[in-house]
Amino acid sequence: MSGNWRDYYEATAGRPPRRTTLAALAGFSQGGGGRSAVDLGCGDGRDAVEMLRQGWTVLAIDAEPAAIERLSGRSDLPGTGKLDLSCARFEEIDWPPVDLVNASFSLPLCPPSAFPRLWRRLCRSLKPGGRFSGQLYGFRDEWAGSSGTTHHHRTEVERLLSGFDLELFEEEESDALTPRGKTKHWHIFHIVGRKRSNIF
Ligand SMILES: C[S@@+](CC[C@H](N)C(=O)[O-])C[C@H]1O[C@@H](n2cnc3c(N)ncnc32)[C@H](O)[C@@H]1O
Repeated sequence: MSGNWRDYYEATAGRPPRRTTLAALAGFSQGGGGRSAVDLGCGDGRDAVEMLRQGWTVLAIDAEPAAIERLSGRSDLPGTGKLDLSCARFEEIDWPPVDLVNASFSLPLCPPSAFPRLWRRLCRSLKPGGRFSGQLYGFRDEWAGSSGTTHHHRTEVERLLSGFDLELFEEEESDALTPRGKTKHWHIFHIVGRKRSNIF
């Protein structure tokens, strides 16, 4: 399913930040100065660049060397904020406590066996009042069951998010082209949540 990520990065080059990311950033009324984020499955940086632009310190993680190369070589990297890069699988590494965990269209690519631990680690890494922004996939998504991706029923998603105040929660089901030009049935949960307390 993942195929060649280079094709994906080419096809999505120059696209704006995800609206889940923008909504999460907007929730921090003081802006990014002094704040830190991790961007899991950062791709070539559509979200990370916006966080930097807003003054955030960002650890951008992706398993694909081409993503890290492309992000580090972007000509539009702002002079604000601070960017650290890590070429690694997000289910295999740790990151420091952060104000924001952003994972746009990447967490479902974690193998199901590794997802529960990854989610626990993600929640624990959020400072109190920190936010999660990103997507999870539902079981009616075309990739469910065949591709080693992780999918959730709505009730499971609600349980995963039980320690968060939800600022954006949308369930989308649609037939649409993938960035690589294939028709696909999508079942997506778009999420922005604020960690309620240190209960994780
Ligand atoms: C669909 S792309 C999304 C990229 C970017 N976040 C965006 O919104 O355009 C998924 C990205 O996650 C990365 N990825 C997939 N599985 C990963 C894993 N287990 N650990 C780290 N990165 C992973 C891929 O290399 C790819 O860059």
